[in-house]
Amino acid sequence: MSGKAKLNIDGTEYELPIIKGSEGETGIDITTLRASTKAITLDNGFMNTGSCQSAITFLNGEKGILRYRGYPIEQLADNSNFLEVSYLLNYGELPSSDQLSKFTNSVKEKAVLPDGVKNIIDQFPKDAHPMGVMAGAMAALSGFYPESLGECSDEMKDDLFCQLLGQAKVIASHFFRRSVGKKTVDPDSSVDYSSDFLQMMFSGDGFKVDEDVARALDVLLILHADHEQNCSASTVRVVGSSQANVFASISAGVSALWGPLHGGANQAVLEMLEAIQNDGGDHKRYLEKAKDKNDPFRLMGFGHRVYKNFDPRATIIKKACDTVLTKLGVKDPLLDIAKGLEEEALKDPYFVDRKLYPNVDFYSGIIYRALGIPTNMFTVMFVLGRLPGWLAQWREMTETKGIKIARPRQIYTGHNERNYVDVKDR
Ligand code: CMC
Repeated sequence: MSGKAKLNIDGTEYELPIIKGSEGETGIDITTLRASTKAITLDNGFMNTGSCQSAITFLNGEKGILRYRGYPIEQLADNSNFLEVSYLLNYGELPSSDQLSKFTNSVKEKAVLPDGVKNIIDQFPKDAHPMGVMAGAMAALSGFYPESLGECSDEMKDDLFCQLLGQAKVIASHFFRRSVGKKTVDPDSSVDYSSDFLQMMFSGDGFKVDEDVARALDVLLILHADHEQNCSASTVRVVGSSQANVFASISAGVSALWGPLHGGANQAVLEMLEAIQNDGGDHKRYLEKAKDKNDPFRLMGFGHRVYKNFDPRATIIKKACDTVLTKLGVKDPLLDIAKGLEEEALKDPYFVDRKLYPNVDFYSGIIYRALGIPTNMFTVMFVLGRLPGWLAQWREMTETKGIKIARPRQIYTGHNERNYVDVKDR
């Protein structure tokens, strides 16, 4: 605690404690606000509301800073790999080589789906949206691990972390292969996470994983691994705060991520670029549409609730995009449209004044497309990346002393009390 804030409501003054974060952020602790003043706060979209104290991820949107457990995202993207970053998020420290190999093996060993869950996935229509399948399969897993539905020991949480990381890629690849009429490919424990995923997706017809491409995918997963209290992580915490099990909490996170204003933006960006291409490629016209307040069209992949300068993930992804396209020898006209849109937007006062910059989803779809991943699976790729963050956030919440069920208040604006009217008199 550090200092007090003064609040004056109708002439009466109240003091509220100030909480300081380790990077100097200031929060006003309103835990006792309603009890002492009868007033609540109202904050559309929680733009000013801190929901927890967390030691996992630090983000400074004004300066374009993102750090996991103190380590800058740029250093992790350059030097680490997805499973090492997952370990870091879960345990708070980088692993020794023994710890990393134990953790990596555990993820590999546990990358198995119960047959019952495979059967459930197989009941979905082949053209079902893969995010619905992912959310359904995550929830369905709860039926097969009844011992994990109550309070979990540290060891159980360690196991669940590795298990879900392994199982998510099986769910994604099993459904993809079924949807294109191909047999499931079992995980290969001799290769890294991203190479294995690519093999599980595309094995057959002479497919061979390219090392540089697998590395680019791994970097993408690192960039998505956590993003503090975003919509889906907050959802995981809100659901978990009722002591619902980890499968239910993660399934809820998947559903929250699906929306086009959140993880679903990567699919929406690609659909937007295709629409511009099919419409003759005039990106300037779409920029005008995005600025027109009478037109619901928004430039997907632009803007962010927190980043108001640049999204450090987008900078890294743009580079990875060039690498992947060059390596695969792909010339994607959508990339030219994307670059054109970015160039125009960055000098347009509408976007400059509102601090709207390309976000993580603006270029990731072009990479996924070059890898052969279908557009409706892009957000599932985001799930694979974000899973360690959700699990770390869930774990931190369950281990915080005195954690309360999430239960916001409201300002009621409906009718005052009135008497029931019998149906014949209405
Ligand atoms: N295109 C055109 N105008 C925009 C856009 C956009 N993409 N984003 C924001 N604006 C305008 C908005 O109309 C408003 O203008 P005004 O002040 O004149 O009313 C102003 O900018 C502020 O926008 P907001 O909607 O109040 O900002 P927010 O913080 O509530 O929303 C956002 C953030 C990401 C939902 C929004 O920028 C958006 O809809 N972007 C497109 C969807 C997208 O790319 N989402 C992925 C986010 S990154 C992945 C993740 O981490 O989830």
